[in-house]
Amino acid sequence: MNQQGPDALLKSMDRMIAEANTRMQAGKVLDASRSYKKAAQFAEQVVEMVDDDGERRTLTIKANEFRLRAKSLETTGRVDGARIKPSDMPLDEVAYSDEDSDLQEQQILLLIDDTPRTIEWDSIGGLRDLKEELKFHYGLAMAKIPEGMDVEGWRNIMFYGPPGTGKTLMACAIANKLNATFFNVKSSQIVSKWVGDSGKLISTLYRVARKFTNDGRPSIIFIDEFDALCKSRGAEGQLHHQQMLAAILSEIDGFAQKGRRNLVMTIGATNRPWDLDAAVLSRFERRTLISLPDEAARAEIFRIHLEAKGLPVDHRSLSYDKLATQSERLTGREVARLCKEVTARMLAEMNPDIPALVDEGLKSIQAYEIQTRPLKHSDFAPSLDNLVADTTVEDVHHYADWGTQIKDSAD
Ligand SMILES: Nc1ncnc2c1ncn2[C@@H]1O[C@H](COP(=O)(O)OP(=O)(O)OP(=O)(O)O)[C@@H](O)[C@H]1O
Ligand SMILES: [Mg+2]
Repeated sequence: MNQQGPDALLKSMDRMIAEANTRMQAGKVLDASRSYKKAAQFAEQVVEMVDDDGERRTLTIKANEFRLRAKSLETTGRVDGARIKPSDMPLDEVAYSDEDSDLQEQQILLLIDDTPRTIEWDSIGGLRDLKEELKFHYGLAMAKIPEGMDVEGWRNIMFYGPPGTGKTLMACAIANKLNATFFNVKSSQIVSKWVGDSGKLISTLYRVARKFTNDGRPSIIFIDEFDALCKSRGAEGQLHHQQMLAAILSEIDGFAQKGRRNLVMTIGATNRPWDLDAAVLSRFERRTLISLPDEAARAEIFRIHLEAKGLPVDHRSLSYDKLATQSERLTGREVARLCKEVTARMLAEMNPDIPALVDEGLKSIQAYEIQTRPLKHSDFAPSLDNLVADTTVEDVHHYADWGTQIKDSAD
């Protein structure tokens, strides 16, 4: 085992690249390929040692590039960046030039999202049982298992339910707690942007996610709007979606290796679970309904979006429980929006001079400190009076019925 520190390893990596160049010039293609492989190994070792995400990303790209060069040298005898035609290669070995592959990895690295770091379990109101369940099963997937035993926690889970109920928040909180690298994939975006080699891009996504697990930190691939992958828009679109979906499913399957700690986890989310077919659903060990918050949960969500954000509250007049009874069927997102509205009105009332100060110029506005006052129950009246919840009773039943149906069909 190599005991060198990162600096020494980077030097060794540079030495291998120089060696590869010399060997190339001497026409020793296979030797050069071996040097590139070693350079990749050094880069990968450093990835395991550094904490800085940017540095890890750069090194991961480098390691990948060296491996591609090595492969390209082995198969074609050159690394000249020209696209290697699929017809020159066995079908399952369709290769890409370094340039293409870099571009693909760059696209994937753009999906890494640091938002989860700011999301704690306490930033999510309600959903108490689900939080415990998630902690238990993801904990099980990460913990050491006794020799010879076959215990598996969850790797893949699908959240479904009405918009704005905390599905994304839950995925973020797990990622935060597990210190995971979070790949935030919005299906509708990748469907429209990743035209062409979408299946290949999905494999790149999972490969990069696996690379990021080198230091023992898990990767979470969060696929939002999962239904967008299962719908077809015209024959061409359909093929494109199917390729992606097939690639995702085979990646998910590919990781069902027994006895191995499951470091790459997929979390799907959808508002339209009925658009997912049985083959897709069966890949997810758990389908979990995240429905509207109940009264107690709404009270917590009000508190999170007011007090926990540092806004002053007059507790003699304002009761979270009362707000909760007056906001039936609101989602977490609607409660958050309502709190923003009320806060904005209070701020406008307390700071009427702001527009004039802006007219005076930057210095004046920068010298001004925002005034606030504690929020009272009556501040909420204008918003509560005009309340129309986004989610209907029928919607709520639709999700619950679908859940019962798939449970029945699985039994
Ligand atoms: N349980 C909750 N506790 C606190 N805030 C919440 C909760 N649910 C939703 N919110 C608020 O609503 C916003 C949206 O929540 P989130 O993104 O998790 O919804 P979602 O279920 O993923 O919705 P969509 O299906 O539209 O993607 C959050 O950023 C937060 O401000
Ligand atoms: Mg979401």
